[in-house]
Amino acid sequence: MNIKLISVIGSGTMGNGIAHVFAQTGFAVSLIDISQPALDKAIATIGKNLDRIVAKGNLTEEGKQKTLANIKTFTSIEEGAKNADLVVEAATENLELKLNIFRELDKFCKPETILASNTSSISITKIASVTKRPQQVIGMHFMNPVPVMKLVEVIRGYSTTDVVTKTVFDLSKQLGKVPVEVNDYPGFVANRILMPMINEAIITLHEGVAGVEEIDTVMKLGMAHPMGPLQLADFIGLDVCLSIMRVLHDGLGNPKYAPCPLLVNMVVSGNLGVKSGSGFYKYTAGSKDLVVADNFKKG
Ligand code: CAA
Repeated sequence: MNIKLISVIGSGTMGNGIAHVFAQTGFAVSLIDISQPALDKAIATIGKNLDRIVAKGNLTEEGKQKTLANIKTFTSIEEGAKNADLVVEAATENLELKLNIFRELDKFCKPETILASNTSSISITKIASVTKRPQQVIGMHFMNPVPVMKLVEVIRGYSTTDVVTKTVFDLSKQLGKVPVEVNDYPGFVANRILMPMINEAIITLHEGVAGVEEIDTVMKLGMAHPMGPLQLADFIGLDVCLSIMRVLHDGLGNPKYAPCPLLVNMVVSGNLGVKSGSGFYKYTAGSKDLVVADNFKKG
């Protein structure tokens, strides 16, 4: 299938990263969000991330301008997706919201359009079930930060065809990414393995086995992880981590996936990590220093 126009739904961290990589590869991109200020912010973020690539000498200023010119913004799904060959949905991780978006996409998109979701854990088969084209619904799970991370986890729903899977594989490679095919079970592969590790790090902290910096240092220096699990949890968002643990717990029915009560309390109290300014660490705009949050300071 000849894919030329990509619509990306949601202009948050993942949506703007996905729009960025498609546009930089030369695709026409429609970036869709309900809020025009959110779209303006996304374009500014893409501009800043392109500047980093220009500064490293991996893109010219002209290449940056071409990339930005490849992106158009829309506040209506109908307008932004009606001509798309592929839609990548990257809206908030909420089942009802995603099901409504896919109902609309199924109504407004061309019959041959492939509908992909960047969901981190919601069932692709469930999302596909609200459309009349379940064979053309697939998971295309990018990792944060999208311009940097090589992986695309390609999730086949129960009805996804080989042709659609191959199209998404080939596209991912065109973006310079490495696609990996997995089947549609709770958490897929990435989060089935990553989230229990993060949850266990939080349990280790909660039980007083070690402090925030000690746990992260063990994993950074002992296992060569670029970030410790607690810093990574802050980076992903503690609300996202909790919701994925709940999907694993509900979907796999094993008590080993129960979210740590400390994670639940942090989310309920609004300590969500980088996006709220405080999680296991506290974050000050403009500072790169990693400072442990007051609640976890020793002494
Ligand atoms: N756009 C473009 N370039 C970016 C970027 C962005 N958004 N963010 C970082 N970079 C580039 C920087 O310019 C820098 O490039 P050079 O090394 O060539 O100079 C490089 O990435 C490293 O960035 P920094 O120097 O700012 O910081 P760092 O060395 O600490 O690396 C990091 C930052 C890449 C985020 C690294 O810490 C890392 O890999 N962390 C783990 C990320 C991870 O695990 N992501 C997956 C999360 S799980 C997920 O996304 C899925 C889910 O469903 C929850």
